[in-house]
Amino acid sequence: MTLMMTGYLKRLYNLGARKFLVVGIPAVGCCPFQRNQNKTGGGCKEESNYWSNKYNEGAKSMLQAMKTEFKDVNYAFSDSYNIVLNFIQKPANYGFVEVKAACCGLGNLNADVPCIPISQYCPKRTDHVFWDLFHPTEATVKIFIDIIFDNSQQYVSPVNVRQLLWNRGKKPKPRL
Ligand SMILES: *[C@@H]1O[C@H](CO)[C@@H](O)[C@H](O)[C@H]1NC(C)=O
Repeated sequence: MTLMMTGYLKRLYNLGARKFLVVGIPAVGCCPFQRNQNKTGGGCKEESNYWSNKYNEGAKSMLQAMKTEFKDVNYAFSDSYNIVLNFIQKPANYGFVEVKAACCGLGNLNADVPCIPISQYCPKRTDHVFWDLFHPTEATVKIFIDIIFDNSQQYVSPVNVRQLLWNRGKKPKPRL
């Protein structure tokens, strides 16, 4: 998988690309579809999360290798796995109330049936992490984007998106 990605990135490089934003894979096992498959307590599906982590580790070392080979490449890699896991583990910090069930769907965790015309909507979509079986809500994406734009090394590295775009290498200005 990362071998294929190396090929894509090199092609983009040869076409002139020098700045790459690579969005890591979130904790896939925690989406309502996967949780719904875990019949023992509705926890996240461990195996899927294991492979999400593996993929991210591979992507990270591939990017480091690419930076070594092409000195004029700059990139930001988002630790989407831990960003979204943090929404799920500390929902109150982000204004979320429901971290397991989808907003739109039917059945257990609104995940037995996808978001189709006969499905039900949650009353307040902004307090849900997940919109449907697989996808985050707009509220989730908005917070996610704010984090990868301005967060320090913890969730996006080696630089954040703002630094990648405008002042690579420098520390971000404190905001708020
Ligand atoms: C299901 O969820 C429980 C509780 O979170 C967890 O301990 C268990 O490993 C999960 N099972 C699978 C198959 O992922």
